[in-house]
Amino acid sequence: MRQLTFAPRFEDWQRVARAALEQAIPPDEVVWQELNADQPSLDIFEEEVPSSGPSKRAQFRVPRAFVELARAVALNCEPVRWALLYRLLWRLTHGEPKLLEISVDPDVAVAFQLQKAVRHDIHKMRAFVRFREVAQENGSWFVAWFEPEHHIVEQNAKFFVDRFASMRWSILTPERCAHWDCARLTFTPGVDKSQAPSDDNVEALWLTYYSNIFNPARVKVHAMQAEMPKKYWRNLPEAVVIPSLLQEAPRRVEAMARKSAAKTEANEERDWHPAPVPETTSLSEVAAASRACTACHLYKRGTQTVFGEGPKRATLMLLGEQPGDQEDLAGKPFVGPAGKLLDRALAEAGIERDDVYVTNTVKHFKWEPRGKRRIHQKPNSREIAACRPWMEAELRLVKPKLLVCLGSTAAQAIFGPSFRVTKQRGAVLESEFAPKVVATVHPSSLLRQPDEESRAREYALFVADLRVALAAAAA
Ligand code: URA
Repeated sequence: MRQLTFAPRFEDWQRVARAALEQAIPPDEVVWQELNADQPSLDIFEEEVPSSGPSKRAQFRVPRAFVELARAVALNCEPVRWALLYRLLWRLTHGEPKLLEISVDPDVAVAFQLQKAVRHDIHKMRAFVRFREVAQENGSWFVAWFEPEHHIVEQNAKFFVDRFASMRWSILTPERCAHWDCARLTFTPGVDKSQAPSDDNVEALWLTYYSNIFNPARVKVHAMQAEMPKKYWRNLPEAVVIPSLLQEAPRRVEAMARKSAAKTEANEERDWHPAPVPETTSLSEVAAASRACTACHLYKRGTQTVFGEGPKRATLMLLGEQPGDQEDLAGKPFVGPAGKLLDRALAEAGIERDDVYVTNTVKHFKWEPRGKRRIHQKPNSREIAACRPWMEAELRLVKPKLLVCLGSTAAQAIFGPSFRVTKQRGAVLESEFAPKVVATVHPSSLLRQPDEESRAREYALFVADLRVALAAAAA
């Protein structure tokens, strides 16, 4: 018997198997020994069985379908897979070139079963990974916990990169973890489930989202359980709402019939693409590129991208939430009622608006119809994440000495979701995005004050915060 030791990856097995084939070692004389992570990755096999050169390789031709099958089977966790693959390889190259077409052959049948199990696991991971937002010093990170049955994390990571290119995320699993920082995909060893965040605001958001997309008219409980084995339910926040949704189903079917034309955000999200921020030092080139942005579905709802405005050399930058109705039509930030109030407050604080760079965290207007009016809707964390590259590009190019965050969406985009404007307004803070940052309320909150007295009081506080910002910028 020959013991062949190799790292349990397709490419390593392929190399070792090819050499074994060249040495004419029959399948029943081989013991396939996986190299553990703590063993040195010596090419032990090649020491024992040196390859006899490239000339013999040419005679071992296998169908392309076998390579595809073997790649998938290699991801299965079944230990016998390596011996099975070598047996298939041997038979394909020793008089049975059409072996893969004989689906009743036991080796072929088992190989296809192992491939199917891997594909199923890949599909499950794509369907059931749920990211939870974790606040970090430099913004949000989305973390998911998943327990795959097979070795699919590396192979599947590209799918998540394409789907969530503008989010920074990690998928933690017991065997291997994948990380994406919006630029690089990296892998680290597996972790314990305790390292995955278990609950936060995203879970609540997801439950609402799931309740909204849950289609009571299509409930087939048995099919649902078959598609979603109990194993996955543990990691799915929506599992807790399913029983009550099922109970409410008949009433909701009726309501759905009325609203059947309404498109869900879930459908719209399928069209998301990464923000195409060009590598340039020109603000106007970045602004021009932003007009073609389809990084989230809001580009379909807003009239146009509303990019920031103001001098590139500005020492002060104002960051709002998102354009409103009038900004959306004009293509300029802060020109509507909140903008007018902002202009007044800036003047009172001694700040020239023309000297300031004014922009928003999200560059498209998110709204819902009410009668003939378009009513502002708060952007959600995924829309903010999708738009983030534009805001970061503006901050990188303008390099303001002082950034004023107007309202909680802007402040949380800079300091993370736990930041509270009510607690920290008016303080001069530091961040990686600007040496000094002052957070204050959004001017539209002044417009919503219930009476003249509170409006005057809040307005005075707002002007005071702007004065703090001006003084800090000048210091
Ligand atoms: N509110 C904002 O946050 N930005 C605008 O541009 C207008 C209103």
